[in-house]
Amino acid sequence: MGTRVQQLKVEGRGRPLGLGTRVPRLSWIIESDEPSQVQTAYHVQVASSVDRLQSDNPDLWDSGVVQSDQSVYVPYAGQSLASNTTYWWRVRVRDRHGLFTEWSEPACWSMGLLERSEWLGKWIGTELDPEAILPSPTYLRKEFQTAGPISRAFLYATALGVYELRLNGQRVGGGRFAPGWTDYHTRVQYQTYDVTHLLAEGSNAVGSILGTGWYAGHVGMMGRHIYGTTPRFLMQLMLEYEDGSQEIIVTDETWRMATGPLIYSDMIKGERYDARLEAQGWDQPGFADGAWQPVTCFAPYQGILTAQEDEPIRVMETLQPVKMWRTERGTFIYDLGQNIAGWVRIKLRGEAGQMVAIEHAEMLDTDGTLYTANLRKAVQKDIYILRGGDEEEVYEPRFTYHGFRYVEVAGADDLDEGSLVGCAAYSAMEPAGSFETTDERVNRLYKNIVWGQKGNFFSVPTDCPQRDERLGWTGDAQVFARTASYNMNVAAFFRKYMIDMTDAQRDDGAFPDTAPDAGWSEYKKISSAKWFAPDNAGWGDAGVIIPWTMYLMYGDRRILEDHYEAMKRWVEYLKRNSDGLIRPDYANHADWLSIGEETPKDVLATQYFAYSASLLARIAEVLGRSEDAAAYRQLFQDINAAFVNRFVAEDGTITGDTQTVYVLALAFRMLPEHLAEKAVRNLLKRIEARNWHLSTGFLGVSYLLPVLSDNGHHDLACRLLLTDTFPSWLYSVKHGATTIWERWDGWTEERGFQTPSMNSFNHYSLGSVGEWMYRYLAGIEPDPASPGFRRIRIAPRPCSGLPEVKGSFRSEYGLISTHLRCDESRRELVLKVTVPVNTTAVVSLPGEAQALGGHSAAVGLKPGGQFYEIGSGSYEFVCRYESC
Ligand code: BGC
Repeated sequence: MGTRVQQLKVEGRGRPLGLGTRVPRLSWIIESDEPSQVQTAYHVQVASSVDRLQSDNPDLWDSGVVQSDQSVYVPYAGQSLASNTTYWWRVRVRDRHGLFTEWSEPACWSMGLLERSEWLGKWIGTELDPEAILPSPTYLRKEFQTAGPISRAFLYATALGVYELRLNGQRVGGGRFAPGWTDYHTRVQYQTYDVTHLLAEGSNAVGSILGTGWYAGHVGMMGRHIYGTTPRFLMQLMLEYEDGSQEIIVTDETWRMATGPLIYSDMIKGERYDARLEAQGWDQPGFADGAWQPVTCFAPYQGILTAQEDEPIRVMETLQPVKMWRTERGTFIYDLGQNIAGWVRIKLRGEAGQMVAIEHAEMLDTDGTLYTANLRKAVQKDIYILRGGDEEEVYEPRFTYHGFRYVEVAGADDLDEGSLVGCAAYSAMEPAGSFETTDERVNRLYKNIVWGQKGNFFSVPTDCPQRDERLGWTGDAQVFARTASYNMNVAAFFRKYMIDMTDAQRDDGAFPDTAPDAGWSEYKKISSAKWFAPDNAGWGDAGVIIPWTMYLMYGDRRILEDHYEAMKRWVEYLKRNSDGLIRPDYANHADWLSIGEETPKDVLATQYFAYSASLLARIAEVLGRSEDAAAYRQLFQDINAAFVNRFVAEDGTITGDTQTVYVLALAFRMLPEHLAEKAVRNLLKRIEARNWHLSTGFLGVSYLLPVLSDNGHHDLACRLLLTDTFPSWLYSVKHGATTIWERWDGWTEERGFQTPSMNSFNHYSLGSVGEWMYRYLAGIEPDPASPGFRRIRIAPRPCSGLPEVKGSFRSEYGLISTHLRCDESRRELVLKVTVPVNTTAVVSLPGEAQALGGHSAAVGLKPGGQFYEIGSGSYEFVCRYESC
């Protein structure tokens, strides 16, 4: 194979369309069968056509040979990029012997519409009756002629609402719920589609189905009309003919509208579809739309119109049911074997007008019926009315989704196992990690964590997919961000979410509880909980923690630059709103859903204040703002001093004396050494007092095991992981969980289901232990001094009870993997490691080690050390150890 360049990415995505940034960043992966291979120079070329590129005529940018080892996020530095244009690029690199690779295969990206003035269309739709609680989606259409053979056709579209785009009878793009969720008061994203292959010479028809979505439909428990009452749609189709001429088709008053078979389709309230009302061919040319109405044109949108930053939501997996049965009521219940977010695709036959109800739930109640008590005001029921006739009818809903494992179908004549599949829909993030051990329970826990992400990364990181909530809770997002980025590539997802966060930042600097805010900050004042805190410790801090996590995991410095001022305003806000650097005790959420222990809110809030200040100091350092860095380092020291003074006794007891107060003080390095040692002992006492069980809630839980492992108690961390008595991670696994539950006691043997008003079975927060599994068991960790896994720390720690652990992570440089096998009786371990090209790794082992065969000899490892510095390739070590 030699050495070659693969997997070209722009802004972290392969072949992205419609970029909004004028300086896109280019990345590539280098593969080689030679050990310790690196890039010593790169050469990038960018051209306006693939032919130009391949005939060595890069008319936009020829970087020349740049002496640099940078292969991730290299900023484009050619001629300025134009709207609605496709760019082709390739790259070659020089290796450590001074030899160049072949040029990579060409890849491309396209630019979106960079100026607002380039949008020529009008926002169209139809005025909806504000009294109609579940209004019907609007069908919009237009026919047009093309004047000759087309060489390129790109379509730009968006909506205030949600839309499905159709061209000549076909769905355009696989995305769902476009344009995704943002704070529509401030901004909306547009999507770019290459539709060249869908156009015909002569007559064409474009159509759109427009639903209320987050814009005008129900959002969380806040009700409907959060952003407006009437959805609207904007589109621009830009045609380029083979003869070089151009034409633009836009939304305007020439479009026609009607309602159709979709009676309603609401994010939270389900869907009703009457197939008898289908208008065959409405999205094709030649359809008689005489009975359709003219559309209404609305005033231009005042917010920001921006290119979609993240991956669209798609149906990412379909699941066959594992079981089905007929009930006494004559209904059919299906078990998908997995709790998912999405819907079902069902095949039906029957009479015209026959009504089939499809209901969804996460659990079965004790009497075998669907457990829907936990849905609050959400309706997880879709209704389909059959068209009738001989043909099989296939139905799946459009603008609604559900959280479920079980499906009950009522009103259908005869169904079998093959009649339906579950469609799991989520933001189309690429898988990144894997994790496997010899303990099936731990493997199931890992799967549950990943499914928690799949069920909730839905344009924004939602708390849950089933009840009337589904909000972008910032605290949940931050505790899980690190785990999420090991599981899947979330660089673009969180880049977009950070925009949501800063859009929702208050003028005084407070970051929100939920992003988009979606009316939550007003609603909480009147909610029965009487929540009023303008900021919440551990929630608002997401505004600093998430960018830092993205920087660590992907080396994305731009996310730090883009949000630096917002982060500063947050820390300054915290400082202003504290008394002698002690934060008030008003935080409503505290250590949310801890079990049996209440962490005092002022302690917790001061701890998070310190953490945000310390991260901001590190961020300032990275950005070269040394004065700020010094000031925030000092602030961190001062907060710690105030904290110790107010809350920490000489014997290391911290006010509240909960597991979480110790965990956070240690994780955030707030204590001088002599107190830190005592705090560790107190933490152990707190765990022992609960008969070696945890008590931590959303905030404490993500640091509990890392703190134990880092402070000489890795064995206890492993014990807590492997405990399956209540409360523990494996307790839910033992009781059949296929996702992470919202609360430790969501269901218990003694009490059955918890209070239904807050009992989701698909909440990822307590799954933040995934991070520890990757970092401490698989031992795959980025070095903050060389982020994005440019330099890797490999330090898997043996875990008593797990003789074998395999883990991997697809970094921006390529695949990192570890495979640890421990023989506990002989206290010997064997570790296999793979490190990608253009990175180095420091392997730390718990005892004197030897490198075996393979590449090891080639890089001249010395036997007998505990630390090895290695370059790319595959290695194997044996090591005798005393403890870990
Ligand atoms: C949500 C949580 C969220 C919390 C804040 C709940 O209703 O489901 O995940 O973080 O409120 O206290």
